[in-house]
Amino acid sequence: MEKVALVTGCSSGIGLETALGLARDGYFTYASMRNTSKSSKIEQAAKKENLTLKVIQLDVDDKDSIKNAVSQIVKEKNRLDVLVNNAGYGIFGCLEDISVEELKEQFETNFFGAVRLIHEVAPIMRNQKAGTIVNVSSVAGRIGFPGSPAYISSKFALEGLSECMRYEMAPFGINTIIIEPGVIKTNFLDSMRMPKSPRPDSPYKELTDKVVGGIKMMAQMGTPPKEVADTIVRVLKEKNPLPRYPVGNDAAMFLEAKKMKTDIEFENYLKKELF
Ligand SMILES: NC(=O)c1ccc[n+]([C@@H]2O[C@H](COP(=O)([O-])OP(=O)(O)OC[C@H]3O[C@@H](n4cnc5c(N)ncnc54)[C@H](OP(=O)(O)O)[C@@H]3O)[C@@H](O)[C@H]2O)c1
Repeated sequence: MEKVALVTGCSSGIGLETALGLARDGYFTYASMRNTSKSSKIEQAAKKENLTLKVIQLDVDDKDSIKNAVSQIVKEKNRLDVLVNNAGYGIFGCLEDISVEELKEQFETNFFGAVRLIHEVAPIMRNQKAGTIVNVSSVAGRIGFPGSPAYISSKFALEGLSECMRYEMAPFGINTIIIEPGVIKTNFLDSMRMPKSPRPDSPYKELTDKVVGGIKMMAQMGTPPKEVADTIVRVLKEKNPLPRYPVGNDAAMFLEAKKMKTDIEFENYLKKELF
């Protein structure tokens, strides 16, 4: 039987590579994006390799657009084996410099966007008694550091949600996998938003600039997005996938250090490494 996958945020980066990777692996892949005028890159790549990939409109902030996309998939394929919750963005800025509204906007996409998709897709997977939901988190979903608490807390929330889902949904045949990329070379950093109204005299300016600069430097040696896509395609083949998979040497290094050290040792280590 033809396997069917839906990936969010496929206009660039990890989503684009993951949709292509799944299609290469034999999935009929719905590569979704909120703005389909950005579809030419993935469509050209799919056409060149004769892949079974279809672009559909899906804005994870918009419940109706999710409902339309999923009902199109059900109408056309009558099943969905894999959902990759990938769409996301980040907001820089220390907590005092960002508003509650900005925090809510960040969660709206990175956390509630995934929740909306899961609500729509889980009944289909339960009826099939099979399916896998891949939540693209981040190494920042396990490790807090200054300069981007909106983004980091949205990914921590996604990690917590994913852990709960593993217990709740596994009895119905639905597996949940968390992917934790380190710094990946995509449009992500260029798309990161700065606080809308930072205080001109912000006491956090120096720290924020330092962290932004440090991450931008790390990005020059970032891992290619195809490595994240290859990991997702590979773990989907595993009989008993692990709960979480870091991607990139930086992610592996930070997460290993977190495992080996006490909280306070780790804090001191991160201060030395990052700023
Ligand atoms: N790059 C990294 O270093 C890194 C590290 C860890 C985790 N991640 C995570 O990886 C995921 C993909 O990011 P990326 O690195 O591939 O960055 P990217 O190249 O900027 O791609 C982000 C994708 O998300 C889409 N998106 C944003 N808001 C959306 C919405 N409301 N509805 C639908 N799509 C939306 C973007 O669409 P538009 O083109 O329309 O903006 C784009 O397709 C994100 O969840 C990110 O948090 C990235």
